[in-house]
Amino acid sequence: MAHLIAPSLLACDFANLQQECEMLNESEADWFHLDVMDGMFVPNISFGIPVIDFINRHAKKTLDVHLMIEQPDRYITQFKQVGADVLTVHYEACTHLHRTLQAIEQEGMKRGVAINPHTSVELLEPVLENIDLVCVMSVNPGFGGQKFIEGTYRKVERLRTMIDQRGLNTLIEIDGGVTSANARKLLDAGANVLVAGSFVFKADNPKRVILDLKQC
Ligand code: DX5
Ligand code: ZN
Repeated sequence: MAHLIAPSLLACDFANLQQECEMLNESEADWFHLDVMDGMFVPNISFGIPVIDFINRHAKKTLDVHLMIEQPDRYITQFKQVGADVLTVHYEACTHLHRTLQAIEQEGMKRGVAINPHTSVELLEPVLENIDLVCVMSVNPGFGGQKFIEGTYRKVERLRTMIDQRGLNTLIEIDGGVTSANARKLLDAGANVLVAGSFVFKADNPKRVILDLKQC
């Protein structure tokens, strides 16, 4: 399967949100990556359900919603209503992860689980077959523009082995500090989806950067 590019709108110009959505529609991007932060699970607040509703009116691609919030079960139905296609919760934020994944599936969304840099991929073993996408955080969640953590490659390799040994189709997504300098190495380690925020939106030519990431 060709790899997917999911630009993170966290780094976009929110005063021109419609134009940013249209730029992504016209680009080679596959997904819109939307980072929801509650100021509790992570030390930052971003945007929530009403903003995603507006994005959904303009976006013509898959909405990949990354919830960095505590007790995400409270809002699963609402994220479905505003157009989420992939809903990712954090392993560290879910006391009853299996139940949360069932609820996401019941709403007809793809089930994503994100793991922080300190969380071992092996912890996902009991629920791996219930997950459609594992988001491996390659920075500590909460902010864009941080430095990529090198230990990510080993985690991706181990996760790739776990998925392949079980014959699963689970996607591996990498989130944080992705650039053209590490994209190829991440794909070689077994990644399927690359999230990129500042590398795309702070570039002079975002569409060109997306194309380069797609072709790398
Ligand atoms: C970080 C977010 C990321 C972030 C990535 O908490 O989950 O999606 O937007 O931004 P960059 O690519 O700038 O590291
Ligand atoms: Zn994210």
